[in-house]
Amino acid sequence: MSKLCDKNIKKTVITFFGDGEGLKAKSETFMRDGKCIQKILTPDDALDFITSKAPDIYRQTDVFAGNKTLSLLISSKGVPHITGSLEGAKTAVYEDSPDKKKNYILTPENGSDFLFALGITDRTGRIHDKKQAKYRQINKFLEQIEAVCPPLMQKDSIFMLDLCCGKSYLTFAAHWYFQTVLKKKTVTVGVDLKPDVIETCTGISRKLGMEGLSFVCMNVSEYKPEFHPDIVISLHACDIATDYVLSSAVNLGAEIILSTPCCQHQLGRDMKPGNLDFISRYPILKQKFASVVTDALRALILEINGYSVTVCEFTDPEETPKNIMIRAVKNRSARPVADKMQMLKEAETLLGAEPFLRTLLPVPDAKPLVLPNYPTERNKK
Ligand SMILES: C[S@@+](CC[C@H](N)C(=O)[O-])C[C@H]1O[C@@H](n2cnc3c(N)ncnc32)[C@H](O)[C@@H]1O
Repeated sequence: MSKLCDKNIKKTVITFFGDGEGLKAKSETFMRDGKCIQKILTPDDALDFITSKAPDIYRQTDVFAGNKTLSLLISSKGVPHITGSLEGAKTAVYEDSPDKKKNYILTPENGSDFLFALGITDRTGRIHDKKQAKYRQINKFLEQIEAVCPPLMQKDSIFMLDLCCGKSYLTFAAHWYFQTVLKKKTVTVGVDLKPDVIETCTGISRKLGMEGLSFVCMNVSEYKPEFHPDIVISLHACDIATDYVLSSAVNLGAEIILSTPCCQHQLGRDMKPGNLDFISRYPILKQKFASVVTDALRALILEINGYSVTVCEFTDPEETPKNIMIRAVKNRSARPVADKMQMLKEAETLLGAEPFLRTLLPVPDAKPLVLPNYPTERNKK
């Protein structure tokens, strides 16, 4: 009984899914450090765990099956008490605590093909330990897309770009979300400089027959699609790559931009020695300060370019420190920008440096660029 109430484990949830010969069980063990260990079990192994192993590990086991409930409570002296019954029940869900189960948009069950092809899950649908954090980040990013996409719902079709897509876990997931969950005709293009990842992702998309999903090997600043994008997404484009992403998104006339920057070094490098020395003499504080200031000025420059901008934490900071998201939505009734220009000038004076994005997007006279060859609605071309 020494394992009773393992301090590292919060709870385990076992969910049965499928039926007949396809019946399987998914076990999710939520750890106190935020990790989640997932396994796909045979029904026999799951039942064995519930009936013989769980009582040694947990003080409380609740089994829900249809409208039937059985609870097993182990007292502090190790005495078991059973209440309820499962007689007549057909399916069962086991929990050791009544906490609500996490409802991710993308799961191994609904996105199994591409999650396996991208190496996030194994053949049985188990998420590889090393990919758990990525899996959660992608789901959190999808929640942000879900939050901002209502204005796009009136459109017949969606054109999305993932700039600096890398291995493209997010690209596949976001394309799947619009096409399969929201049932929108979707065209998605992932753009990255690396030929090997573009080749791999193109192969996977073709093999899985993912209609409308393609990849281009190119510098994002040179990529000029035929139509203006409805949404531009970008996850962890390093340092000034995020500035190329944002400037491209603005210049292409994106309606919505969701960008999660990382490794914001440029302002830290360029800040004038002597300015803000009380911070920059501590390297770690200088780096954190440069990150915050860079993203604040990116948000400001997007506002100057006609977007309504919010900055949020898109995922748990304990999951990754790279969790800041810039959310920009084109604001057709944008007000004059004189006050924001003033703010930008004051920041630049304080730093003794310009944010790189300023060199890519002309301010103060910049307006959201409407390129003459870009029809605003693809269908009206
Ligand atoms: C840290 S990875 C992130 C990849 C992916 N979004 C993810 O979250 O897994 C950054 C990617 O940006 C790409 N990249 C950097 N600068 C770029 C540029 N100017 N144009 C296109 N891709 C670029 C790199 O090749 C790399 O694949």
